[in-house]
Amino acid sequence: MLRRLHPVQPDSFTFTPANLAWARAQMSKYPEGRQQSAIIPILWRAQEQEGWLSRPAIEYCADLLGMAHIRALEVATFYFMFQLQPVGKIANIQICGTTTCMICGAEALIEVCKRKIAPTPHTLSADGKFSWEEVECLGACANAPMAQIGKDYYEDLTPESLEALIDRMSAGEVPTPGSQTGRFASEPAAGLTSLAEQKGQQERNASVTLAAELGETLKRIDGTEVPILTKWVRQQPKAAADDRSGENTVDESDPHPSENRPVDSTGVTKQEAPASSAARPVSAREPAGARADEDKTEVRGEGDKK
Ligand code: FES
Repeated sequence: MLRRLHPVQPDSFTFTPANLAWARAQMSKYPEGRQQSAIIPILWRAQEQEGWLSRPAIEYCADLLGMAHIRALEVATFYFMFQLQPVGKIANIQICGTTTCMICGAEALIEVCKRKIAPTPHTLSADGKFSWEEVECLGACANAPMAQIGKDYYEDLTPESLEALIDRMSAGEVPTPGSQTGRFASEPAAGLTSLAEQKGQQERNASVTLAAELGETLKRIDGTEVPILTKWVRQQPKAAADDRSGENTVDESDPHPSENRPVDSTGVTKQEAPASSAARPVSAREPAGARADEDKTEVRGEGDKK
């Protein structure tokens, strides 16, 4: 599939103030001079804000990171997760069409999308609310057929349940993600055959519970969602809160807000990670001669000048 910029482009793009602060925090996670390594999360946030990546958005991200526009364009056109054309105002429905989902009925789901949204993928519906596309395996094969809608998975779909989901979303609802036939997770569809005593202890699995609490399934992200995530983190055990501490408080006056803050419970910060293989101790199990070859190729980040 050719991935090209859309022929119709907006005049400009700019991050919301909260998203810009978030982007600067991401950039500060990388060693000085290697901020360009943040290109993927920065492009992703631009897409979360607008729904898709326009040329002005790609160039804005490149300028923010001090890199040539063509380098950011290369990244945006390489990864299929980046949408290069406008998507539905409410949702872009991604139907998994890989083997398991196909055997279990994905083609019938695609027919629903063709009928209710548009005859061809990557095309807006007449009211501009939806678009759709077929994607490769999304890793929820045990709950096939399934679709990613917005940020979450809707599983165990039938043409009727997908149609009902689209109608409810069109009416402004955000249906609960997860199995649409009432399965808790990926246990046998006919019921548990072991650990049956576990059944019924929780109404929803952890993924669905978190999705429901965050309420961001169909939301465009403008950066004001941080308090929602912070609220959720505060309810979690301390270790989880420690792991996420760098994500949730951004001091806009600090040019390196993540500096010296642990990225995980080991206490190691990104800034401490060795940038070159020369700084890494030789493993006793490495074959003789392997290190000499490795040292010829220094590990380089996006920001390195050749
Ligand atoms: S084949 Fe559809 S999720 Fe894996």
